[in-house]
Amino acid sequence: MELTAKQRRILDGADGPFLATCMRWLVEWGEAMGARRLVPCTNTHALVTVPGNLVHGAGEKALERAMALLRAACRQKVCCHSTSHITFAHQEQYAEIEMPPEQVAAQQEIEQSAREAGFLMTYTCAPYLVGNVPLKGEICAWTESSAVVYANSILAARTTRHGTESALAAALTGWVPEFGVLLDENRRATLVVNVTAELACPTDWGALGYFGGKAAGLEVPVFCGTPRPTQEDAKQLCAALASGGGVTMCHIEGVTPEAATLEAALGGKPPARTINFGPSELRETYDSLRNHTGEQIDTVILGCPHASLQEIAQVAERLAGRRLAEGVRLWVCAAYATKANAERLGYARLIADAGGYLFCDTCPTNSMRVDARRIVTSGFKQAHYARGMIGAEVIVAPLQHCLDAALTGTWVEG
Ligand code: F3S
Repeated sequence: MELTAKQRRILDGADGPFLATCMRWLVEWGEAMGARRLVPCTNTHALVTVPGNLVHGAGEKALERAMALLRAACRQKVCCHSTSHITFAHQEQYAEIEMPPEQVAAQQEIEQSAREAGFLMTYTCAPYLVGNVPLKGEICAWTESSAVVYANSILAARTTRHGTESALAAALTGWVPEFGVLLDENRRATLVVNVTAELACPTDWGALGYFGGKAAGLEVPVFCGTPRPTQEDAKQLCAALASGGGVTMCHIEGVTPEAATLEAALGGKPPARTINFGPSELRETYDSLRNHTGEQIDTVILGCPHASLQEIAQVAERLAGRRLAEGVRLWVCAAYATKANAERLGYARLIADAGGYLFCDTCPTNSMRVDARRIVTSGFKQAHYARGMIGAEVIVAPLQHCLDAALTGTWVEG
């Protein structure tokens, strides 16, 4: 890889050993991916917390390594707009989840030093809902696969899928290796998905994304024939694309910034494949994430990816004056900033009065604190991971059906 004199000096240790390590990570990753240079990056979204799976059982050594990395990173200063991905528990929940005091202290120390390093501690998987909205063409380094697809596809910013180390390195050095969707030629769609199914709610868009993700794998799909999505529709589509497959970006014909026409999305070339998403594919995709053996449910999880204020308002409106069924938990996951808005506007009170809970800064799957047996969720991504990570039975369904299940304690097919 060709490095500038400044990049070479940092790699050689001129700015200290940790930044030299960051540069080495970026250079080695770039070389493995065929990048020819490092390019300036002005926006990052990084995991600046100890991941829940390390707190809950990956062993002391792994936890120590993660803490050492974060401590070293937070002794530096970020050099661009940098927000933080979710944490494993909101501070108000530490007592509730019986976290060992030394882990609480470690997490508080990281939070404090990350703030001093200049990270904006948004603690969310949907940074675009709480003020991190990069501009078209802006080079970013984002963790969280669902947010990466949203940034590339809906906002037309440019980010590859980042991990903890690479996003921290980008935040602290201001560079990323140039490969993948940072380059025009890799943003061209190769898979056309003709949509004839009716997409009536965000979860239907999630079904489209889950189907499209499985079909696309690592390709870039373009969806044709869809209505114009809402922000919530787009959120579900992007999250499901990244969990059904390894998609980094998509286009929606006539909607997303780089797909004014199908030809533009395809870059003037013929597609490699064309597939259809009709009513039977919609139904089959829902069925693929419904593995329940009974009708009594105990947990409803909404807000995957983190809920918008609009979604919280819908939940509050439906629950106003009602009570959840006995023994049913309702978790609505959201960023703290969104929860604060919901509290101010009265939605949080309505949800709490019904027995629901605004689960902020994290989500049940990531905090690994779900002892559920049968989950109903509106998010295809949550359903996909809950089944594997929690081992619970899962039913994916549109928001209103999830709320019906929460109020009655029963899942009614159809
Ligand atoms: Fe966010 Fe958790 Fe879903 S981190 S994308 S709510 S699995």
